[in-house]
Amino acid sequence: MALTFIKFLTLFLSITIFVSITLPANSASSDLDKRFLQCFSLKYPNSSTAEVVLTKNSTSYESLLQSSIRNLRFLGSSIPKPDIIVAPKEQSHIQVAILCSRLLGMQVRVRSGGHDYEGLSYASDSDDVPFLIIDLINLRSINIDMEEESAWVEAGATLGELYYSIAKASNVHGFPAGSCPSVGVGGHLSGGGFGTIFRKYGLAADRVIDARMVDANGRILMNRTLMGDDLFWAIRGGGGSSFGVITAWKVKLVQVPETVTIFNVPKTLDKDNAVATTNLFLKWQTIADKVPKELFLHSVMSVTNSSYGGKTLQISFTGLYLGTAENLLPLMQNKFSELDLHYVNFTEMSWIQSVLYFAGYSINDHLEVLLLRNQTSQSFKAKSDYVTEAIPKEGLEGLWNMLLEEKNPILILTPYGGRMSEISGTETPFPHRNGSIYGIQYLVYWDSNEETEKHVDWMRRVYEYMRAYVSKGPRAAYLNYRDLDLGINRDNTTYEEAKSWGLKYFKFNFEKLAIIKAQVDPANFFRNQQSIPPFN
Ligand SMILES: Cc1cc2nc3c(=O)[nH]c(=O)nc-3n(C[C@H](O)[C@H](O)[C@H](O)COP(=O)(O)OP(=O)(O)OC[C@H]3O[C@@H](n4cnc5c(N)ncnc54)[C@H](O)[C@@H]3O)c2cc1C
Ligand SMILES: *[C@@H]1O[C@H](CO)[C@@H](O)[C@H](O)[C@H]1NC(C)=O
Ligand SMILES: *[C@@H]1O[C@H](CO)[C@@H](O)[C@H](O)[C@H]1NC(C)=O
Ligand SMILES: *[C@@H]1O[C@H](CO)[C@@H](O)[C@H](O)[C@H]1NC(C)=O
Ligand SMILES: *[C@@H]1O[C@H](CO)[C@@H](O)[C@H](O)[C@H]1NC(C)=O
Ligand SMILES: *[C@@H]1O[C@H](CO)[C@@H](O)[C@H](O)[C@H]1NC(C)=O
Ligand SMILES: *[C@@H]1O[C@H](CO)[C@@H](O)[C@H](O)[C@H]1NC(C)=O
Ligand SMILES: *[C@@H]1O[C@H](CO)[C@@H](O)[C@H](O)[C@H]1NC(C)=O
Ligand SMILES: *[C@@H]1O[C@H](CO)[C@@H](O)[C@H](O)[C@H]1NC(C)=O
Repeated sequence: MALTFIKFLTLFLSITIFVSITLPANSASSDLDKRFLQCFSLKYPNSSTAEVVLTKNSTSYESLLQSSIRNLRFLGSSIPKPDIIVAPKEQSHIQVAILCSRLLGMQVRVRSGGHDYEGLSYASDSDDVPFLIIDLINLRSINIDMEEESAWVEAGATLGELYYSIAKASNVHGFPAGSCPSVGVGGHLSGGGFGTIFRKYGLAADRVIDARMVDANGRILMNRTLMGDDLFWAIRGGGGSSFGVITAWKVKLVQVPETVTIFNVPKTLDKDNAVATTNLFLKWQTIADKVPKELFLHSVMSVTNSSYGGKTLQISFTGLYLGTAENLLPLMQNKFSELDLHYVNFTEMSWIQSVLYFAGYSINDHLEVLLLRNQTSQSFKAKSDYVTEAIPKEGLEGLWNMLLEEKNPILILTPYGGRMSEISGTETPFPHRNGSIYGIQYLVYWDSNEETEKHVDWMRRVYEYMRAYVSKGPRAAYLNYRDLDLGINRDNTTYEEAKSWGLKYFKFNFEKLAIIKAQVDPANFFRNQQSIPPFN
């Protein structure tokens, strides 16, 4: 500890002296990339700098920048691009990148899987602030310890890589995180992270037992003891980007049965089944959060072609049961007989095959598809809500009419309850626990950026319409479905201003997050349009 600190101090001073002597303080910002390179190569004088630090001149700058951008809204030429991309191969590269960017007055964006809904891990909203991306693409090793039923996962790994590694090591272990394999563990776990088995096992963040990170002073914190309880609490749901660069998580694996069972029941609101489908949804709202925690039964609304011509709404009820079809059958007949499910409607499989299924693959695909990072991208806008009282029929009918106005809307309704209700709202910064019946994710996709305004307007109208039917005071939202419409976005918001979105994401935990921020990053070095401001 003492040695590391001295090394850090020496480096800091040598850079300060070097920079102040050789670089005129007022040199144009177009020189920033050169100055950054000079600063970085003080610590790494040999050729390795060129592999780790990319400037706009580097041949791989463009391909690395674009590699993990999932929302094409933030790829356009009008979006400010980073002066530098650092792709660290070891933790000390991050340390030096932080010190050099502090000295040069550059902002840092941290990127793991690049799935941020508003592009905050790689896009800036202003040309005035020079920034660099620390992209963790090269830090993605996964070490599984079957004896301890745990894994150290570097932050640049994807959920798919984690699921794959677990499945290779055991057929009765799994991990409760999101369904999309290309999501990065860096962002996902630091914002909560839920998926098809979270009613049984909780959030991904709930299973984090240790972590490593580099803080705003460039210090490498090798474990939770060195972070202290507060910082370790904050990064498990408060979002990593306000607190530092998380380099690895240690997670506790969960035991899953050898056989799990899935089913999918698509229904439409076409004339002859509209009443029956509406009733199914009304029933779903009353049972989805109350069925045993082994059963995950979500519903997905989308627009589809009607068999009568024109369009109609489709509502799919899709289930995953941690057990056999034989045990699921009486459960469904008892709790939701209206779905009319029979033994033939169930498919038994392994847990990892259910991961393939919910990722949109065939359950007979090779597991290696989980390792693909190059998913197709589109432009999209998303929002989230929490429902605490069942939505009445009139409310639903109004919503469905609005969905039919859009070409490609999707609503994903995720039941809570089970383990989620047993964990206190203050255990982690993620506050949406007991009392949430289900969460809603609203999504709309489109192809051409010329259509952006039209679709974003539609989304805002739907959100306004839903106000009457969802959680209130505050109207809750999920951090990992980041939404810049929620409040005041600046990288220097005051605590009072930041409450506009902070209370929605974190409720009663927001103040504690801002106090911790003041302790670990009082100068607000790690900041973006929606980062937590320091508050004393
Ligand atoms: C197609 C798709 C499917 C999804 N499915 C689910 C789902 O099933 N369940 C669910 O809960 N969520 C889901 N999400 C949301 C997802 O959890 C969030 O977008 C998450 O933040 C993405 O993490 P990332 O590392 O891929 O993204 P990034 O864009 O890299 O990062 C997201 C945020 O975290 C910060 N960050 C990233 N890495 C680090 C790090 N190492 N240290 C500090 N800060 C860091 C970034 O700066 C940024 O603010 C989905 C998103 C998409 C696009
Ligand atoms: C990038 O290329 C331009 C034009 O060749 C050059 O002027 C500039 O110095 C280069 N920048 C760096 C950091 O090498
Ligand atoms: C470059 O220098 C660093 C730090 O001194 C060292 O760790 C690394 O191995 C060197 N790389 C090469 C290619 O010489
Ligand atoms: C954390 O790291 C410190 C310093 O290396 C060490 O003394 C301590 O035992 C570690 N704690 C845990 C829980 O690993
Ligand atoms: C719906 O119908 C249109 C033509 O009317 C067709 O182009 C499209 O592929 C159909 N979509 C689906 C999902 O069947
Ligand atoms: C169950 O399977 C039968 C036979 O394939 C099918 O006709 C029926 O529509 C299915 N029921 C449901 C609710 O999916
Ligand atoms: C991703 O890469 C794989 C293997 O190189 C390729 O088969 C697949 O078509 C690619 N997918 C996309 C969406 O580009
Ligand atoms: C959840 O809240 C309900 C109603 O407020 C309460 O009855 C129940 O005991 C709570 N459950 C747990 C596990 O705390
Ligand atoms: C925040 O920064 C903007 C410029 O980016 C500046 O105009 C404004 O005064 C700052 N606000 C506060 C509260 O510091």
